[in-house]
Amino acid sequence: MIDIHCHILPDLDDGSDSLETSLKMAEMAIEDGVTHVIATPHANNHYPFASKLVRSRRDELQAKVGERLLIGTGCDFHLSYENFEALREEPAQFALNQKTYLLVEFANFSVPASLDQTLHQIQLLGLQPIITHPERNPLIRSDWERLWRWLHQGCFVQITAQSLSGGFGERAQTAAETLLDSNAIHFIASDAHNLTSRPLRLRPVYELVAERKGDEIAQALFEENPRAVFEGCALPYLPVPPDLKASRAQKESGRRKRFWFF
Ligand SMILES: [Fe+2]
Repeated sequence: MIDIHCHILPDLDDGSDSLETSLKMAEMAIEDGVTHVIATPHANNHYPFASKLVRSRRDELQAKVGERLLIGTGCDFHLSYENFEALREEPAQFALNQKTYLLVEFANFSVPASLDQTLHQIQLLGLQPIITHPERNPLIRSDWERLWRWLHQGCFVQITAQSLSGGFGERAQTAAETLLDSNAIHFIASDAHNLTSRPLRLRPVYELVAERKGDEIAQALFEENPRAVFEGCALPYLPVPPDLKASRAQKESGRRKRFWFF
């Protein structure tokens, strides 16, 4: 398996707090069957992104781990005005493994209407946005139609493995299942931060997905699509996004029912 979103590098953000923890996270990943990870420290107002420092921490960890786990770098890109301006200056430094895909995280309590346009501008910079864990965002999961629109616009979706196993609560779990059953997911990643509450472990959720959707889909979400991101290639598994007209009709009929009820 290949993990495209984790906070394995030491002392950069709220992820690993020491080289020792990072090494243990790497051992945990190897034991789990993970062969590559992309270390994605936060890039936001609280944790500014310093690409040279990220690369040196990566080199230090890679030297200790050896070839059993290949470590690339990228970032967990928070979509803010300042970050977007920095992205325009030098898009590749923020991209996953410095190729063409970009993890994009939204604020939990504000998803502005201008976001559709901003995502398009990111695409015009030559990057392919991957929307991170929408199942954990109360605003996005209250209205899937916006996410379906971003999928039709050519964006991709990554969910957190632990959401599917209930680690982020019932709402995130139900939302993750809805996305999985709607074929609206391209990647499942650990978003690991530590050794206990947010571990770098994917196997149990791989099994859950294989049971619910079949082994081929599990392979695509945990291995084949993530590999394409690592290498900067086109995704081999590209499900057809949910139908926008059907989703609007469903929402409208729900609204009418509520109107008659009251
Ligand atoms: Fe993250």
